[in-house]
Amino acid sequence: MNAPEKLPLFTLSAWSAEQLANVEQALSCWVVSPIDTPAPAGLGDAMRYAVLDGGKRLRPLLVMAACEASNGNAHAALRAACAVELIHAYSLVHDDMPCMDNDVLRRGKPTVHVKFGQAQALLAGDALQALAFEFLTPDDGSVEVATQARLCRMLAQAAGFQGMAGGQAIDLASVGKPLSSEQLHAMHRLKTGALLQASVMMGAACGAIPLAAQTALRDYGATVGLAFQVVDDILDVTADSATLGKTAGKDAAQDKPTFVSLMGLQASKNYAQQLLAQALASLEASGLQNTHALQALADMLVNRHH
Ligand code: IPE
Ligand code: IPE
Ligand code: MG
Ligand code: MG
Ligand code: MG
Repeated sequence: MNAPEKLPLFTLSAWSAEQLANVEQALSCWVVSPIDTPAPAGLGDAMRYAVLDGGKRLRPLLVMAACEASNGNAHAALRAACAVELIHAYSLVHDDMPCMDNDVLRRGKPTVHVKFGQAQALLAGDALQALAFEFLTPDDGSVEVATQARLCRMLAQAAGFQGMAGGQAIDLASVGKPLSSEQLHAMHRLKTGALLQASVMMGAACGAIPLAAQTALRDYGATVGLAFQVVDDILDVTADSATLGKTAGKDAAQDKPTFVSLMGLQASKNYAQQLLAQALASLEASGLQNTHALQALADMLVNRHH
């Protein structure tokens, strides 16, 4: 009798390594390469410093995983993955500036404004945001024009006043103020959740899946997006700066409302696990077959240590 055929097991580390190699290579080529596309007055150096050589790249991985689950155009997804990461990197550059969180350490390195000065940091953020939309609109026929428009719209909404920038405004306006649970949820959904959810939906937009599956992925994205910021709040209290690559303990020091300050550490940890279960249930409900990477990413994102 023949031995039963063994199905290849999915491992996140092997899958991620392959995806990350593509993402890193694309970012390194496309983010104002000093040879192909030099930027004036050292701006390119600040842009590359902000994006390359660091970061977990969770958003690009979500884009690629959602594209895979949707059997989509992998080239379009790679462009979308890099575009989302540029918006994220720009948001970090501005978040760290003295007028916002005033942080000196990011991704294990001095922050962009510490290294290049505030004006250059501001401009590097601006230029990264614009470059993200350039990535989404290639004129070589590799991505359908209708898909390009959809991706731009999704990213613009997630980055702007209805998303990240809006959430950051709430964050700054809330310093020293106790927020209700509803208010805190609303802030986190915009500040961090919107871009993570958009990562999932942009990956899905590179393919064509039924409306019910889109709705399920939207729920998955919203839930992992919220869980991600709950865990970010937890790690600010439980991890050290060397592990995080950014200054630990900043939220309490700056009197920011967080899940930990609202419900306490243990309840926040329980809540993150509850959200993970909810995200996995949404994937189950999607009816999509190839959701291994999305499942594993949700698990990693909630159970991460940095
Ligand atoms: C940190 O995001 C900032 C938040 C949105 C909470 P990440 O934890 O994804 O940061 P990097 O990209 O890995 O540096
Ligand atoms: C930042 O949130 C979110 C964005 C950059 C949009 P935080 O201020 O909590 O992020 P960290 O902790 O500095 O990475
Ligand atoms: Mg902040
Ligand atoms: Mg910050
Ligand atoms: Mg934080």
